Order: sequence, then structure tokens, then C-alpha cells
Amino acid sequence: MRDAHPAVVHVHRRYVAGGRDARPYGGAVLDRYARAAPGWAAGAAHVYGPLARALVDAAPHPLAGRRVLDAGAGTGLAGDALTTAGARPVALDVSAPMLTAVPGDQPRVVGSVLALPLADAAMDDAVAAFVLNHVHAPVAALAELARVVRPDGAVLATVMSAGNSSPVRDRIDVVARAHGFTPPDWYAELTGEQAPLLGSADRMARAAHEAGLVAVRVEEAPADLGLTDPAALVDYRLGQAQFADWLAGLDPRTRSAIRAEALAAVAPGMEPYRPGVVQLTAQVPGDPVDPGADAAWRVRRPAGADTGGRR
Ligand SMILES: C[S@@+](CC[C@H](N)C(=O)[O-])C[C@H]1O[C@@H](n2cnc3c(N)ncnc32)[C@H](O)[C@@H]1O
Repeated sequence: MRDAHPAVVHVHRRYVAGGRDARPYGGAVLDRYARAAPGWAAGAAHVYGPLARALVDAAPHPLAGRRVLDAGAGTGLAGDALTTAGARPVALDVSAPMLTAVPGDQPRVVGSVLALPLADAAMDDAVAAFVLNHVHAPVAALAELARVVRPDGAVLATVMSAGNSSPVRDRIDVVARAHGFTPPDWYAELTGEQAPLLGSADRMARAAHEAGLVAVRVEEAPADLGLTDPAALVDYRLGQAQFADWLAGLDPRTRSAIRAEALAAVAPGMEPYRPGVVQLTAQVPGDPVDPGADAAWRVRRPAGADTGGRR
């Protein structure tokens, strides 16, 4: 099955066991990012671009020449960083419209990180930039990443720290609300239920261990993005997916007026934007000499995922 965009391949539509993540992916599920691609690529990238580069730079080995899964790729910001590092990224996302904005000729696959349509050990490494905070079963998602990465390969992931706050960024939300913006229901699910599951160094480290990963290192710190330009902060914030449907329903003149008002609200007392980020670097266990001697080498698969592979 092919998308209207010829480079986007719908490989699978599968049902995944696992509580409220038990939904079909590949079209029938609510696509939170269906209209977010333009704003993401032009605005949110001010924040997520540098964070993707930092994640790729944290790899425990050189990535040049390696095939690396970019899970939850969005518009391909981590893929850009991977390409710069000489790697060969494969972009995967539940949102076909986001994938259509991925530049270059890298493979694009519509699918879920909870049921990756990839064979066991098909990838050399995997990155998951700000996608594991979108599921109710992050351990299962990490285990899926571990399953598709070959032994000794890296699994790299980021999420925002729970409880991140930014008074200057909040001023943008105040302006949007004054113009009639109300967050979509999924945003409350994301911020209230899903994001906190991995939103601290402890939780991320525990999840990585439960998923069977080794060499687990987790850092939680404010990210120095060098973002001091009020316009970049406004475009980042209004480029996030929760605003996309609302902004798409406004006429261009109203959108411009809201952006100008947000800029005027942010500029006085603008501080560098430094969001707290939880960053994981880990590895898939190497091939054991004697599997019986180290039961921990086995990577747990999410219940119900039909991987059809060797583990
Ligand atoms: C916050 S954006 C991050 C995009 C990109 N990784 C970046 O850093 O710019 C989250 C992305 O994850 C995707 N996503 C959400 N749930 C997913 C899932 N279960 N499997 C794969 N992708 C998912 C969304 O469609 C969206 O493109």
C-alpha cells in the first residue's frame, strides 16, 4: 500500500497488545501530527534540531556507514544529524504527512514504535527523539527498538523532563488562549499520562533496563540550545502539533497578528530557552558465548507483537 507521496511506504497495519496503546496504526489511529509538518519543519526545529544533533553526537560509537532507524522521525531532524554523521537513516513514523517533509532520499516507513515493521536485528542502531513520550507502554517501545537493532548496536532516546516549565514560553500560550485556542484532548493525555512515564533520569534508566538494554547511561539536564531570539521561540512554540489544527483554521492575517502579539509578549525579558531533557544512550546486549550463562541477554518483546523473527 502506498501513500499519495510516492516515497512513503505503508508497510504494515498491525494491532499491538498493551493497554491503551492497543490500537491499529497506519491510518486508522488519530494522527496527532497530521497538520503539523510545516510548522514543525519551520518552527519547532529551532528546538528539536539542536536536540537531535546532541542525541546523535552522544552515540557510543561512530555511526558513519551504519543503517540507523530514526523512530518517530517526524520531519527528519534526527535523520539530518545522522546523515551529517555519515550514517544511513531510515525514517519511521505513524504520521505519513510528517514523513512527506523528510528531506533527501532516505527510506520512509509508516509504522509504530510499538510494533516496528522491521525484522529482528535489521538495523545497526536506533534513535528515538521525543517519541517514547507519546506511548502508554514505553518499555515495550524500547524493547521493540532493541529487537530491531543488532547485538552491540546503540539505542539512543530523548524525552522532555517532566515538570519542565518556562514562564517566557507560557506567555505565548496565554496569547493563543486569548485568541480562542484550547488544547486538543490528546495533548492532556500526552502531558498528563504519557510524558511522565519516562520524564526523569530514574524512570528512563529503569525502563531501559526492563527493556533488556545494557550500558545504560541517562543524563537529565537543561539543554543549552543557544535559543535567545524571541521570534525563534514563538515559531518553535506555535509550530508544535497541539496548535496545528487551530492555526490551520485561521486566516493568514489572523495568524500573522497572533504571531506578532506573541512576539511582543515574549520579547521583554526574553531569557535563553533551556528545556530540561532526559537523554538515554544504551546498547543491545552482544551475542552471548553461552546464552544459558547470561539470561539477561534476551530482549523482551512487547506482548502480541508478531515479529516473525529469530528471537
Ligand atoms: C515530538 S515529535 C518528534 C519528531 C522528531 N523525532 C523530532 O525530534 O523532531 C513526535 C513524533 O512521533 C510520532 N509518533 C507518535 N507516536 C508514535 C508511535 N507510536 N510510533 C512512531 N511514531 C510516533 C509523531 O507522529 C511525531 O512525528
